[in-house]
Formats: sequence, C-alpha cells, structure tokens
Amino acid sequence: MPLSFPPEFLWGTATAAYQIEGAAQKDGRTPSIWDTFSHTPGKVLAGDTGDIAVDHYHRFRDDVAMMAELGVKAYRFSVSWSRIQPTGRGPAVQRGLDFYRALTDELLSHGITPLLTLYHWDLPQELEDAGGWPERDTAFRFAEYAGHVAEALGDRVELWTTLNEPWCSAFLGYGSGVHAPGRTDDLAALRAAHHLNLGHGLAASALRSALPARARLAISLNPAVVRAKSDDPADVDAARRIDALANRVFSDPILHGRYPEDLFADTARITDWSFVQDGDLQRIRQPLDVLGINYYTPTVVSAATDTDGPRQDGHGVSDYSPWPGADGVAFHRAPGELTAMDWPIDASGLYDLLMRYSAEAPGLPLMVTENGAAYEDKPDDAGQVHDPERIAYVRDHLAAVHRAIRAGADVRGYFLWSLLDNFEWSYGYSKRFGAVYVDYETQTRTPKSSARWYGEVARTGRLDVE
Ligand code: FCB
Repeated sequence: MPLSFPPEFLWGTATAAYQIEGAAQKDGRTPSIWDTFSHTPGKVLAGDTGDIAVDHYHRFRDDVAMMAELGVKAYRFSVSWSRIQPTGRGPAVQRGLDFYRALTDELLSHGITPLLTLYHWDLPQELEDAGGWPERDTAFRFAEYAGHVAEALGDRVELWTTLNEPWCSAFLGYGSGVHAPGRTDDLAALRAAHHLNLGHGLAASALRSALPARARLAISLNPAVVRAKSDDPADVDAARRIDALANRVFSDPILHGRYPEDLFADTARITDWSFVQDGDLQRIRQPLDVLGINYYTPTVVSAATDTDGPRQDGHGVSDYSPWPGADGVAFHRAPGELTAMDWPIDASGLYDLLMRYSAEAPGLPLMVTENGAAYEDKPDDAGQVHDPERIAYVRDHLAAVHRAIRAGADVRGYFLWSLLDNFEWSYGYSKRFGAVYVDYETQTRTPKSSARWYGEVARTGRLDVE
C-alpha cells in the first residue's frame, strides 16, 4: 500500500554554499574559516578544498534545470557570507547579492520553492580573526548580514533559515576542532553556542523587520537522538548530559527563552555562563514559523570511567571532545547497518525527533531540512549509477516521517541531503551524499537511480513501501 503525503508537502533537496559553489575568489569573495581550514595541511582528508567544489557558481542554471527535470519541488541552499560582506561587516557587495538573485529567479522560473539558509558554517575569516563566535560582536555582525540579504531577496524568497546546525559550529568548530576554525577550547565552544543562539535571535528580528509579512522564519537544528546504553541510572544520566549539550543548549533558549539548569551544573567547572547578558534570552526567543530538523543517525551513550584518547565522533578524529563538561560519558555504535560514514541506520530516530519537537513546541510546524546517506557510488560500464542502499535509506526515513504525521506531527516538508555529491567537510570529496553523481574531473552530473526514484516520489507525493 503506497503511503500518501499531504498535497502541500514540500519535497526538496539541500546543499550548502562552501560544499558546492567553488569560485572561491570570484566577484569579491574573500576567505571564510572553511577556506583557511581546508588550506591548512592535515585538516581535511587528502588536502581537499572547496576552491572549485562542483563549480555550482558557474553551473547553477544547469543544476536548477536538472532539479526541475527530476521533479524536485523545493531547494534548500545557503548564502556565502563572504560573498555578501567580504570582511564580515559593512555594506553588501552587489555582485554577491546578484548571484543569489539569479539563483532564486532561476528556481522560481522552474516552479521550485527556495529555502534560504543564511549560515552554513562559513564565517568570514576576518570575523574569526576578531574572535569568531566566542565573541559577542559576531552575533551582531550576523544580524547585520541577515538584514542585507533580506533586503535584496525578500521579494522572492519566502522561507528563511538563520543557522544550520549551530551544534556543529560551536562544538566541532571550537571544541573538538574537526571543523573550522579548528579550535579546541571548551570555554570557547560554550561561548560560541551562546553567541550562535544570540545571533539567531538578532537575525530573526532583523529578518522580521526587513521581510514582507508572508515570510516564514526557521532554524535548522541537528538534535541528537540520545539513547542510554542500558537503564542503569548512571547510563541514563550520561544520556541526560548529552541531551543538554547536544539539544537543550539550543532548543531551550530558542523555543523557551531559558538555559537548562543541569547544563549550568554540568559545565560549572568550565564557566559560570556570565557571558549571558541581561536581555539575551528574550533576544534569542523569537517567534518562529518552522523548526528545521536535520537527522542522520542516533547517539548511544553510557557512563564511563575512562574516556581518554582520540576517537571518531562521526565527523572526524580528534584528541579533544566536542562535549565540554561531559567527561565520564562513553559513546557507542548504535545497532543497525552502516552507511559509508560508518553511521548506523535507524529511521525510528527521525520519528522520535519529530514526535519530541511536536510535543515540545505545539503549533510550530516542522520540516526535515536534511536527511540522507553516503555510499560508495560508482558508475557502471554504461555510465549509470545504481544506489539501491540510498533508496532504501530514504524510503525508510520517509516512512518514519509519514508515521509521525499520522501520529499528529505537523511535518511540512523533507529535504534530501544532498542534491549533488560535494565537499563533505573534513572528509573532503571522499564521501558521496548526492542524489546526483559528480565526476570531479569533468564536473559531469549523472543522476543516480535514487534521484529518479526520489523525483517520482516528489511528483506523486506517494511512497511505495514493502
Ligand atoms: C550535516 C551538514 C551537511 C552535511 C551532512 C552530511 O551535518 O549540515 O552540510 O555535511 O551533515
């Protein structure tokens, strides 16, 4: 029996500027923290960088036409801050705005709904040199940038996301250092988390005042589905700690205007949180129209006596933990088959998240703004790319979304990560998440079988399940 999705359900794919655009020095763009990081030896596998990426900056018209041909109805992309404000402050660069205008016009003329993300991790390097997200001023700079983009694109973009996955920016960028800017400082990571929250709130206010009333505002979080390894109280407490550091550190201020007390207690050794100033929580808690949820794999934890030593946290390898204040927590591989990222597959995690946030924020519509899988895709002799594992992954996760909708969750859309194979952060080009295969030598695009399959689901709004 096929599952039917609501007629207005948004079927999309997602990308991010640094991962696909290339043209790193074109039209006034200056380095972001990801340019600096990827050009630092040893930071990204094989020394890969986003200098050229999949050259989307020059090929966006063809990429949009391909999306339309596949049947995709919506497209989530991010704006490169360094194209708009090369120094991270001051007036906007017209050529930078023109690119995103041309992109959105192209989308709209193909009947594709744009979803614009303002920040997908690529802070202008000058702002990092001035202290980066651990510094309060960065939040104000972000709001200024948001205002520029809103003024230029507010007439054609209705769906706006402030930040993508602030957990990664704060804790992988400043804690474990596997992401740009590669700092390993617990206090900096916690300060960054707060200033990202503040940046979100200030940007949301700036967007509201610059955008027409029909605009809808969102943030994309990547909440961890934290599971205790056993029901031993010590393991349950480990899960509580990670839930605070992964989830509630963002969702509590953003949705409820408070920080969790247990987070303060767990991190007391690192900070007294005096960087949270009077009025910040009101600034952070802005009315939202959509909550974006990104989900890939669950997190299993237990209490541990010895958690020293390098470890794989799913995003890279570091001697430093991305969980400040969570010493004594061990991470375990969840059951389930693995994708090429070694991420266990468990679609019930997506169901759990959708149910959690629909209970926690009643009346706030949800969207899955990222979900997908990497596999070792290769063209066959006829040049075709068959990826049945990806189809199975997406089918299972879409069935979980459908189950959540049936159980009462108000889920408005799903964005497959990713449209194209691309620069997968510290893994460089070694991991392929695309529905469309990219030959990086020739930049040829070949839709994988999953792209055709997904396009059909998008066109019909129906999902065949066994
Ligand atoms: C998410 C990121 C996205 C991509 C996927 C695989 O955390 O937002 O850019 O790297 O993971």
